[in-house]
Amino acid sequence: MDKNTEGKKDDEPSAEMPDISGNFVITQDMKPINVGLLGIGTVGGGTFAVLKRNQEEITRRAGRGIVIRMIADRDVEKARNLAADDVIVTDDANSVVTNPDIDIVVELIGGSTIARELTLKAIENGKHVITANKALLASHGTEIFAAAQRKGVMVAFEAAVAGGIPIIKALREGLAANRIEWIAGIINGTSNFILSEMRDKGLTFDTVLKQAQKLGYAEADPTFDIEGIDAAHKLTIMASIAFGIPMQFDRAYTEGITNLTREDIRYAEELGYRIKLLGITRRTSRGIELRVHPTLIPARRLIANVEGVMNAIVVKGDAVGATLYYGAGAGAEPTASSVVADLVDVTRMHTADPRHRVPHLAFQPDLLSNTPILAMQEVETSYYLRLRVIDKPGALADIARVLADLGISIEAMVQKEPSEGEDQVDIIMLTHLAMEKNIDAAIAKIKKLPLTTGKVTRIRLEHLSSK
Ligand code: NDP
Ligand code: HSE
Repeated sequence: MDKNTEGKKDDEPSAEMPDISGNFVITQDMKPINVGLLGIGTVGGGTFAVLKRNQEEITRRAGRGIVIRMIADRDVEKARNLAADDVIVTDDANSVVTNPDIDIVVELIGGSTIARELTLKAIENGKHVITANKALLASHGTEIFAAAQRKGVMVAFEAAVAGGIPIIKALREGLAANRIEWIAGIINGTSNFILSEMRDKGLTFDTVLKQAQKLGYAEADPTFDIEGIDAAHKLTIMASIAFGIPMQFDRAYTEGITNLTREDIRYAEELGYRIKLLGITRRTSRGIELRVHPTLIPARRLIANVEGVMNAIVVKGDAVGATLYYGAGAGAEPTASSVVADLVDVTRMHTADPRHRVPHLAFQPDLLSNTPILAMQEVETSYYLRLRVIDKPGALADIARVLADLGISIEAMVQKEPSEGEDQVDIIMLTHLAMEKNIDAAIAKIKKLPLTTGKVTRIRLEHLSSK
């Protein structure tokens, strides 16, 4: 440990304080808070760089120094090259979470196995934990927050949702007056990057995915990004904080972008919509919707114009109305921005009575609600349907009858010209609100009609009206 700070108590006067003229002067040192960093990959490297570059301002904000004392990574040489000589570098993450000199453990390894063990061990050893790991929290949050509650330590996770956007802080504190009605967000940078590059530059899915991996946006397992799993992790966390419910990732409906075609993207545009991978959670009288899927949204909405790795989240509160949060959803320094903000928060609250801290999940832990998550079959939304039919009289009438029998009303319909020499055409229909189970039944029936080819594409549509 730094010999200047040895023997000092946590609550001694501030370390580096501005003098009366506002100049930044070194006063008698208050003991800096000691941080152990687990994993120095994309986000760990960014965190190290931001903390170092902005050290002075961060100290002034936190009221004391925040110093990385230990780094654990499998690649010790990589860590050694980054860190100053007085930082302990190890490949043994256990030695960080059990070190009595470490106050805060920053978990940036990822995954749910080793990260879970290390997080629980850090808590058990009385450390506060900061993590960017949404997979860990969405699946094991209940266990982790209960352990933290018992030990009176903080678990902070701003970076786990939407990278650099301070959405956790906004939901948990800024919107605390509101009854949250719904949240809809572009919360996976990789899939938004893929959709944008495919549409704008005509690049193939695989080419853009490789770029996202190179840029450090994609998860270790990129199927998490393209299959909507990463977005569902983040949505699970937001729903929990917004509605005061336990984290229930296993109840989330998850559908990715791998089946989207260029035709659907084009047809959607012709009708005045953009297709985005959206995470949607909504409070209804029958339960809470929790779903991730490609979604048509009106092109005039701000969120429809969020491109590349950027994320955006619309939160509708009963008092404030709709609010929009926009920023970089992935990448080294944007994500580090959230990790370091958590470091400042935890440092400020380190000596506070645990009862006076903001509850981990915004609501008091003994006052969580048991409102059920609504099964996808029970969700009501609008739909885009693309049907490939034989271009003969009666085809459209048959389809309209199936929809009418199931109470599904058509809002708009377009029939495309058949290509030269072809006898099949695309019919695109937009429906009014309908229940998912009725659309499922309609699609099953339409596929069996004599004049359809058996191909029906269904994409959900949300108007995201702020009313
Ligand atoms: P990286 O893979 O870039 O970094 C993880 C680091 O941890 C690597 O250096 C890895 O070493 C090291 N590591 C793995 N296992 C161990 C272990 N047992 N002990 C010590 N070190 C280990 O991941 P990211 O930085 O991208 O992501 C970290 C976390 O942040 C994840 O939870 C991710 O979901 C989250 N996140 C990432 C964002 C991003 O933009 N990248 C944005 C928001 C959140 P090795 O390379 O040898 O495996
Ligand atoms: N893989 C994630 C994304 C990283 O692309 O959004 C940020 O959580």
